[in-house]
Amino acid sequence: VDAPANNASSGEAPADGKVVLGFSQVGAESGWRTANSDSIKESAKAAGFELKFSDAQQKQENQIKALRSFIQQKVDVIAFSPVVESGWDTVLQEAKDAGIPVILTDRAVDSKDTSLYKTFIGSDFVEEGRRAGKWLVEQFKDAAEPVKIVELQGTTGSAPAIDRKSGFEEIIKENPNLQIVASQTGDFTRAKGKEVMQSFLQAHPDIDVLYAHNDDMGLGAIQAIEAAGLVPGKDIIIITVDAVKDGMTAAAEGKINFIVECNPLLGPQLMQAVNDVLAGKEIESRIVTEEGTFTSEEAKAVLADRKY
Ligand code: AHR
Repeated sequence: VDAPANNASSGEAPADGKVVLGFSQVGAESGWRTANSDSIKESAKAAGFELKFSDAQQKQENQIKALRSFIQQKVDVIAFSPVVESGWDTVLQEAKDAGIPVILTDRAVDSKDTSLYKTFIGSDFVEEGRRAGKWLVEQFKDAAEPVKIVELQGTTGSAPAIDRKSGFEEIIKENPNLQIVASQTGDFTRAKGKEVMQSFLQAHPDIDVLYAHNDDMGLGAIQAIEAAGLVPGKDIIIITVDAVKDGMTAAAEGKINFIVECNPLLGPQLMQAVNDVLAGKEIESRIVTEEGTFTSEEAKAVLADRKY
């Protein structure tokens, strides 16, 4: 249930009319992230905002520095997608004390004091993990023998890695035959996905299923699987999350069997929230993105129209 707006600072519409938005991005680790950054830049331009965009290269310390710099520059609103969930209270309190409203996009923080930010716009990552699990449970409902699953986790400590793991585990425990035999971070990148999959294949020659927390890691793993002489999507069933163009292409080719969508196009909702906050309007404390899922056949059907 969406709670009413909290009491984070509401900021004020700037006197000269030009809204200055400071945005701290996670990095450029994946196709999803590129689409997300493009969406934010395009939407800020369309809204007539001045955007101060900072890339944290997947490091929390860089994000904290960027947020402090935005506070010093007295931007009108700060938005950011936190690399990891923990460790934000001090800098968020500094923004609050400076009277600058903060909006979270894409990833959550675990701060107990929800008055430190106005709203959190993004996906329900636990539900994404559940969707991956439900598809798998259905595929293997008649399995009489153990099904060996390897898991490529996202960035350690990040909301999507924590939640996609827990949502998936919650569902697959319905069937004790579904066993996660190895689970390791691939940091949401293609290169690490490939590297970790290579080591999984060496340690476990009989893998049945790969669950990757994003398309990029899945695509890197596909390279490792092919290099090992196996057929992705057949010898090893592959489930990923995101549904970016490269992932959808691999799904249409049958190399990925199932993709859970995670929508990166958060820019328009963010700009709307910035305007609402500055206008002093009530704003929902949680704005959840609508998403679907794709089998190989479904990916094939929509691939040509996929924008990102
Ligand atoms: O926070 C969203 C996740 O971050 C995406 O699923 C992943 O691709 C990205 O790196």
